[in-house]
Amino acid sequence: MPYEVQGVVSRAKGEPVSLETVIVPDPGPGEAVVSVQACGVCHTDLHYREGGINDEYPFLLGHEAAGIVEQVGAGVTDLEPGDYVILNWRAVCGTCRACKRGKPWYCFSTFNATQPMTLADGTKLSPALGVGAFLPKTLVHSGQCTKVDSAAEPAVAGLLGCGVMAGLGAALNTGAVTRGDSVAVIGCGGVGDAAIAGAKLAGATTIVAIDTDDRKLQWAKEFGATHTLNSKGLSEDQVVEAIQEHTNSFGADVVIDAVGRPETWRQAFYGRDLAGTVVLVGVPTPDMRVGDLPLIDFFSRGGSLKSSWYGDCLPSRDFPVLIDLYLQGRLPLDKFVTERIGVDQVEHSFERMHRGEVLRSVVVF
Ligand SMILES: NC(=O)c1ccc[n+]([C@@H]2O[C@H](COP(=O)([O-])OP(=O)(O)OC[C@H]3O[C@@H](n4cnc5c(N)ncnc54)[C@H](O)[C@@H]3O)[C@@H](O)[C@H]2O)c1
Ligand SMILES: [Zn+2]
Ligand SMILES: [Zn+2]
Repeated sequence: MPYEVQGVVSRAKGEPVSLETVIVPDPGPGEAVVSVQACGVCHTDLHYREGGINDEYPFLLGHEAAGIVEQVGAGVTDLEPGDYVILNWRAVCGTCRACKRGKPWYCFSTFNATQPMTLADGTKLSPALGVGAFLPKTLVHSGQCTKVDSAAEPAVAGLLGCGVMAGLGAALNTGAVTRGDSVAVIGCGGVGDAAIAGAKLAGATTIVAIDTDDRKLQWAKEFGATHTLNSKGLSEDQVVEAIQEHTNSFGADVVIDAVGRPETWRQAFYGRDLAGTVVLVGVPTPDMRVGDLPLIDFFSRGGSLKSSWYGDCLPSRDFPVLIDLYLQGRLPLDKFVTERIGVDQVEHSFERMHRGEVLRSVVVF
């Protein structure tokens, strides 16, 4: 019997989200239905609502979730009802050219559920990042479920499903931060603070946190920032100079842009040391341009310019380890949860995100 539940839907560009009846089919071959226990509100959900990702409305929002497997479809052997899982948007295929070359974190053909979840009138929903989890039951591909230690509570564990993993992985995987590195992180929301926590975990000795909001900088310190800079009203050059001030006037070994705007990317580009690394983890909108950068600056500064999709994570490899580090008290994942809210408060949480009042609002069921 399909499930009929209330889920958070974005019907049209820029319009407030609404709670709608959603029909969740029983799992087909390779699929699973998961009882969602918690799902964090990520800036990417807001990007969807604002038309910044694509135009495939209506969207079923929510994608940073943890829960319990309720039912599995035919052929699913590595998952069973009762398993405690974090949902992921990188169920790797094993057969695409990236997977075959041993780099499955770039998988170009990840699995999602093939059956659609729909509105009551049959309209197909586009689930955010192929998940859709602001509802008490959701349908995913079984590979989108990663089993972890159930001692980690859902509101905390679910955050690894997207933003926190993206930030941690931007530092640990993409930026390959190591002992003694200097790191600057631009934008200290959930993603940026996770990058700070990742840099600290990897042994970076200088971590410069940059944001336009003092409250965010206070949180950034709690995650391990050694220096902070409020960049509100500063020119791009002034931000670069401030990064240099804290790094023996050289610039940082790794600069992570967790905002994703042309000005923050240019700050990252010029704020790194020669042969340093820029990691873009914030998501730009399609209209953005980096402007009139001299090509010689790319050449003469050397190093690498990278993007980090989902922190280059491999959920099966990374989620259980990070949950274990959290349970051992070595990674403060719980500090990302600012508030727990009902499923009817997602629109309100977007406003709070916009005002900078939260790191993560987490919907709990
Ligand atoms: N690459 C990925 O796989 C991935 C995954 C999840 C989220 N994201 C993206 O990461 C970005 C951050 O997400 P979040 O959930 O942390 O968002 P958030 O809104 O919680 O945080 C953004 C932070 O950037 C700060 N900021 C805004 N403009 C700034 C500027 N010009 N200079 C300095 N700081 C500035 C804000 O004050 C805020 O603290 C978003 O673009 C989101 O879509 C990427
Ligand atoms: Zn693949
Ligand atoms: Zn996200």
